[in-house]
Amino acid sequence: MKKPFIVGNWKMNLTLAEGVEFAQSLRNSLSNSNKIICGICPPFIFLKDICKILEGSGIKVSAQNIHSEQRGAYTGEISALMVKEVGCSHVLVGHSERRHIFGETDSFINSKLKAALSANLKPILCIGEKLNEREDGRTKYVVKNQLKDNLRGINADRIKECVIAYEPVWAIGTGKTALPEQANEVHAFIRGILTGDYGEDIADSVYIQYGGSVKPENTGELMAQPEIDGFLVGGASIKLESFSKIIEAASNY
Ligand code: 13P
Repeated sequence: MKKPFIVGNWKMNLTLAEGVEFAQSLRNSLSNSNKIICGICPPFIFLKDICKILEGSGIKVSAQNIHSEQRGAYTGEISALMVKEVGCSHVLVGHSERRHIFGETDSFINSKLKAALSANLKPILCIGEKLNEREDGRTKYVVKNQLKDNLRGINADRIKECVIAYEPVWAIGTGKTALPEQANEVHAFIRGILTGDYGEDIADSVYIQYGGSVKPENTGELMAQPEIDGFLVGGASIKLESFSKIIEAASNY
């Protein structure tokens, strides 16, 4: 049984001062907890300070994005090597906001995933269907294609370093959570694809997180599902009180 892995994606929220205070308080409040693994995804410009605060705490720091190249003439972009150098262990890749607001394609996401692994960053690959795709009965088709396209060309031994976050787009920031059974069904489907492609041992070792309107009130029922290994939390992760309650509820599993 894996320890639940709970990651807070701050998106474009909090000031540097608020982020620093949050990280210090999180470190203090988690100092005795070994029941879960916790991580946060601050904005790029906070990463160096927050990595320093959390050094040695076991709390993971993840970037929210990277470019697919490690260096070069890409004005405004940040590479996996840069993110690694300031102390991050993880990076989000393929978040639905990157796919749908910024037009990132599956092949670009695949290149980013490879860039992350080559810099020894663990990618948290986000996949999930849009509302019309679910309503048309295409959830599994969409999720399978994203998974296969985004993981293309990656060796089985490196798949173990990847985390998959199933985030149905219709549940993100909407207050509509997938029913625990709905989420579990997709998680089991994802695990089945990984088993087919990389074998049972690797598939079982991969964390599959759920994301989309996770809050303290629904953490327990989601965590009770056998295929849900943790959460990628948005809105409820930017207040220490609600994030701590999610961590506490997940610690009971
Ligand atoms: P919400 O928890 O605000 O729905 O966001 C989920 C998400 O996008 C996490 O990456």
